[in-house]
Amino acid sequence: MPLCRIAYVDHTLVKCLWRAATCPGLTVYEKMVPVYQYLDSHSVFGGKDCWRSMEMPETDANFVIRPAEQRDVADVIALDERITGISKREYLHDLFERYRTRKPDQRFFYVAEAAGRVVGFVVGEIRAWEFGSEPCGWVFAISVDPDEREESVGSALLDEICGRFRQAGVTRLRTMISRNNHLLMSFFRSHGLMAGPYLQLEKDLT
Ligand SMILES: CC(C)(COP(=O)(O)OP(=O)(O)OC[C@H]1O[C@@H](n2cnc3c(N)ncnc32)[C@H](O)[C@@H]1OP(=O)(O)O)[C@@H](O)C(=O)NCCC(=O)NCCS
Repeated sequence: MPLCRIAYVDHTLVKCLWRAATCPGLTVYEKMVPVYQYLDSHSVFGGKDCWRSMEMPETDANFVIRPAEQRDVADVIALDERITGISKREYLHDLFERYRTRKPDQRFFYVAEAAGRVVGFVVGEIRAWEFGSEPCGWVFAISVDPDEREESVGSALLDEICGRFRQAGVTRLRTMISRNNHLLMSFFRSHGLMAGPYLQLEKDLT
């Protein structure tokens, strides 16, 4: 039976879908679990608890967002180098290790995977009271493979980390970008980020 027809006739499912669409701070998978539970209990998918065996919900997206693993670090290094032209091998290995072992509830390193390949990543963490700033979620890096852009991979990565920040209790997102990076500027502006209350200052020390 088409999902839209079920939703039309069944008020409970409409509520489930509405909650899935509007509930902030959850991953897509977490949002969809009540929907699958409901469909399952009504035998829409045929067998009881069949939703539990699904690793990910069926969506139109041909990629998944998941926490970075050790095996991804080399791909992240290569992708970052391809985009920025700078190899940050040591830095990214060190970053992954710190994020994996310390404060994992406040530090987030996610990758987008498509066809078994890393096609994007996002890194960020909750920082508090530096420069007098109240706790907020910082995105330090976000990048998508040039061959996979404009397919919502970047948006999915940003949504994921924002959800994690919300779950951890912070209500503000911050980042810093180069003035010349018009692409990142467009991307962040499209997600509602605007100039904040702090100014970056610097001085040449040579
Ligand atoms: C910015 C970036 C992450 C966007 O990834 P993406 O997967 O292409 O983004 P999305 O498809 O989710 O696009 C979301 C929005 O961003 C904006 N956007 C994305 N690509 C754009 C482009 N080429 N021109 C203008 N706006 C663009 C649009 O508003 C878009 O919304 P729309 O699809 O409704 O028009 C990606 O282009 C990238 O990795 N750029 C390089 C980033 C970088 O320099 N990283 C190193 C420093 S951290």
